[in-house]
Amino acid sequence: MDWTGPGQYPTRLLAADAAGIAAAGAILRAGGLVAFPTETVYGLGADALDARAVARIFAAKGRPADDPLIVHLAATGDLGLVARPGDAAVRLAHAFWPGPLTLVMPKAPVVPGSVTAGLPTVAVRVPAHTVARALIVAAGTPIAAPSANLFSRPSPTRAQHVLDDLAGRIDAVVDGGPTAVGVESTIVDVSGAEPRLLRPGGIAAEDVERVLGRPLGPAPTGTATPGPLPAPGLLPTHYAPRTPLVLVAGPDPAARLAAEVRAALAEGKRVGVLLLDEDEARLSATGGFAVTRVGTWSDPAGSAARLFDALRALDQLGLDVLYARDVADPTVGLGRALADRLRRAAARVL
Ligand code: TXA
Ligand code: MG
Repeated sequence: MDWTGPGQYPTRLLAADAAGIAAAGAILRAGGLVAFPTETVYGLGADALDARAVARIFAAKGRPADDPLIVHLAATGDLGLVARPGDAAVRLAHAFWPGPLTLVMPKAPVVPGSVTAGLPTVAVRVPAHTVARALIVAAGTPIAAPSANLFSRPSPTRAQHVLDDLAGRIDAVVDGGPTAVGVESTIVDVSGAEPRLLRPGGIAAEDVERVLGRPLGPAPTGTATPGPLPAPGLLPTHYAPRTPLVLVAGPDPAARLAAEVRAALAEGKRVGVLLLDEDEARLSATGGFAVTRVGTWSDPAGSAARLFDALRALDQLGLDVLYARDVADPTVGLGRALADRLRRAAARVL
């Protein structure tokens, strides 16, 4: 089926079977754009070694040219094609690939400067999703792919999210169903003397530190996570729904969330809540607002898988304000990625 949107041409919806993957591989080889599932979120792929194809990614997303892309490989053994990995990179690649860890390393000359935003380093990962790897094999080239959302919107965890943002702007979407991890990869910079955490994500930073045998340094400048990260492209406005999201953090967030919701309703506002299982009893007495369930923050892996879908679902209702509350411990494991994404999505943190 073809989907047309505000853009220039129809977007094909392809099945994640042999025929669909072959068709998608042919589009990529011809310099086209294909969105595809990874275990984290859907990526918007182009031939990473073709500067013209890469330029189309930035145009389709409305992404600034100073925000570098991640290069996706089918196998760890292909790393030398695009990067010059050091000891730490090799150790982490063997420990976590295929999987949701992205490594920033010195780049090989073959990678166009537009992929790396002119940086001397390149970000690389081998995705765990079998469809993603089969597609890279079919394309016969490394695939540069940011998340397949319009710039600054929540990352897509379903093919429909991709179509909602990019129909008419890209050649095809391979539909592999909902993604399992639901937040983007963890990004570790191993290009310098001290490995640094640039973005918390699908692999816990503690697990990376265990393999390295040393703590990860913070991102080059600015604040520690959670909070805005200063790596290129990591703007505080990322992942934001169009409806303003208020994040209730600090002490006793469940009670304060309920009070905020009641106050907004009393002002006549149309309200949506990113609802946790543990808050259901407290909020059920209030009523009169929309909810999307995300599970429980005590199971960060399960709730991370639902976070972006929940934000997009609430956003589609055309409400006045959305509320969510902070994870119990924003410094541990996947909770760190969740806390980071909630802050980036929020218009206000209380
Ligand atoms: O899980 C993921 O990582 C997904 C899937 C599709 O693989 N991709 C993704 O890409 O989240 P994107 O473009 O939304 O985020 C990539 C980020 C950039 O915004 C930038 O902060 C960082 O990776 N990055 C890329 N190259 C870099 C480099 N050479 N140095 C520092 N940071 C880099
Ligand atoms: Mg992104």
